[in-house]
Amino acid sequence: MRRRSPVSALSAVEYYADFKKELLASNCQKCSLSKHRTNIVVDRGNPEARVVFVGEAPGANEDREGRAFVGRGGKLLDELMLKEAGFDTNRDGLIINVAKCRPPANRPPTSEEAASCRPYLEKQLILVRPLILVLLGATALKHIIPEKKGSPMNEEVGKFFCHPAYPGMNIIVFFHPAYILRDPRKKPLMVEHIRRFKTLWTSLLGAH
Ligand code: URA
Repeated sequence: MRRRSPVSALSAVEYYADFKKELLASNCQKCSLSKHRTNIVVDRGNPEARVVFVGEAPGANEDREGRAFVGRGGKLLDELMLKEAGFDTNRDGLIINVAKCRPPANRPPTSEEAASCRPYLEKQLILVRPLILVLLGATALKHIIPEKKGSPMNEEVGKFFCHPAYPGMNIIVFFHPAYILRDPRKKPLMVEHIRRFKTLWTSLLGAH
């Protein structure tokens, strides 16, 4: 019997847990990132939550552990979200990436790599149906909203908007936590963005 490709097998699944199991078992070889990876990194957090964070791609820690954002950047995100919004990323959110496998030397994923992974990301959004979509950094922004490619991050961060490609989702861009680690002077701005997030999150929680 012909083996179905990982994408066609995954497009049929109805439950997030099955999606994750299938993707992890797929040994996906759709792009060359598969050659270097230790683990496919599907996510971290709670797929029942209605807030999804989208990062760039796994780094060394994530590749080793098989979970998204477990390095210094992830810890900073967790701490700031908890302190400023009372938001527990593992309980209240799901963290995913544009690319599910680690690019060599932590470079950003190429357009081809992001396109190979795109059906997985789309399936995650369909199954989770987030009310809030948080894009972490310029790479996530350009792959999720391609017409914003090259737009200065200072103009994109911290404002909620909607987009026809993502119906029902309130989208907000945050600085990537790794950027805050490199330039801590931007931390107060990130705190401001998280507080704006909190206002919408708490009002949506009340409504759902
Ligand atoms: N940076 C990202 O964008 N994603 C991760 O999972 C880890 C670091």
